[in-house]
Order: sequence, then structure tokens, then C-alpha cells
Amino acid sequence: MATHAFKINRYNPDDERRGHYMQEYPLDVQKGWTILDCLNEIKWKQDGSLTFRRSCRSGICGSCAMTVNGVNMLACETQALTLKSSTIVVEPLRGYPVIKDLVVDLEPLVESLYAVKPYLITKTPLPTDQERFQSPEERAKIDGLYECILCGACTSSCPSFWADKKYIGPHGFLKAYRFVADSRDEGTREHLEALDDKHGLWRCHTIFNCVEACPKDLNPTKAISELKKELVREKIG
Ligand code: FES
Repeated sequence: MATHAFKINRYNPDDERRGHYMQEYPLDVQKGWTILDCLNEIKWKQDGSLTFRRSCRSGICGSCAMTVNGVNMLACETQALTLKSSTIVVEPLRGYPVIKDLVVDLEPLVESLYAVKPYLITKTPLPTDQERFQSPEERAKIDGLYECILCGACTSSCPSFWADKKYIGPHGFLKAYRFVADSRDEGTREHLEALDDKHGLWRCHTIFNCVEACPKDLNPTKAISELKKELVREKIG
């Protein structure tokens, strides 16, 4: 057990005069506690007004993405003692409007996701057996693409998004490529449509922040480069 100082962003929309400020909470961190466990301890035993999102506690729902000591991560997947710092600074994801304390408004993330038509587009009728089959090799092509949990950590870490709030962002590109790479999908043009735009693919400067930030170890930058090739192929017919 070790005493840590948690410095946590506080913001209450009903107290605009105060704005954002950091509040410090001491906490005896036990071995095995995640950052989410620590936040729960603080909320349950020190300050019930502290507000943050969480749901699954298993790295599945993406609700608990936040910035800890300057790095985007899932609070429920991060062991507090591995941070090797007795001061832990917890902030909301950058680039999104803050609703309260650590909770951000993810509406821009959802809007840009819709733009890439994040669903299977088919044009040929279903085969009589009612299934669209894939070979194991075709199925393997969407490994590393379908696992995104839409936590927002990648896009929140991207300077292109900080500069342009309408930028589709790495989460949207990864999702677009998940369908473009799917052998059953027949809507490549539709998925690419929104990407060939000033808020689209060409605004990516290959900084790789998204790769570092992804808690699922996915590679949106690789997906972006594949999509750029697809777009050029589409353009030259
Ligand atoms: S609470 Fe669901 S990913 Fe952390």
C-alpha cells in the first residue's frame, strides 16, 4: 500500500465562475487497484460529487477513457501502481467539450462515425443459403480493425482533431477501413465518400499519436494509409 496524491480535474457547469480547477485527494492505493478502482474509492469515501463514466470495468465498453498523467488510457485497464508516480493527474479526454469533471461530450465522435457509413453495404441479393460466406483468409483481413471499442482515446490524442473539430478522426477511419477490407462489403465508394474532404483523410499528418493512445493496440495509422491507397485507386478508376 502506498499513499498517492490524485489531482483530478473538476468542472461544474452550474458554477461557470469557478471554471476548471484541479482538486487533490490523498489515497492509499492497494496492490491490484486500477485507476478506476481509485476513482471509485475517492467517490465512495471522500467526495460523492466527483463525476466520471464507467460501466463494464473490463475494457469492453470504452466509457472510462480519460487522460492520466498526460496519456489517454482506459481507467479500468490501468494498474495505478504501474504508473510509478506518487502524483496521479487525471483529466478528461482532450478536444471534446467537458460536461462535468471527467465526463466529455462524445457527440462529435459519433457524428464523424456516421459520416463513414459504419455498416456492411451489400448490393447483390443474399445467396439462397441466407449467408454471405468468407474464407478464413478473407476473415483474417478484418483482424485488428473490428476490435475498436469507440472509447475516443485515439481521436482525442490527434493534433489534427484539436485543430479541426469536424475532422473525422482515426476512430472513423479505422471503422471505414473495417468495412472496406471486408470481402462481403460492396460499398467501398460510399464508405470513402466522406473521407475525400478537407475534414477527411488528407488532414492526417501521420503523427502516430492514435497508435500510441489506442488501449486495444490497434493501428489506425495503417488503416489510414490503406484508405488513402483505396481513394487514389477509386480516383484513377
Ligand atoms: S469501464 Fe468499460 S472500458 Fe472501462
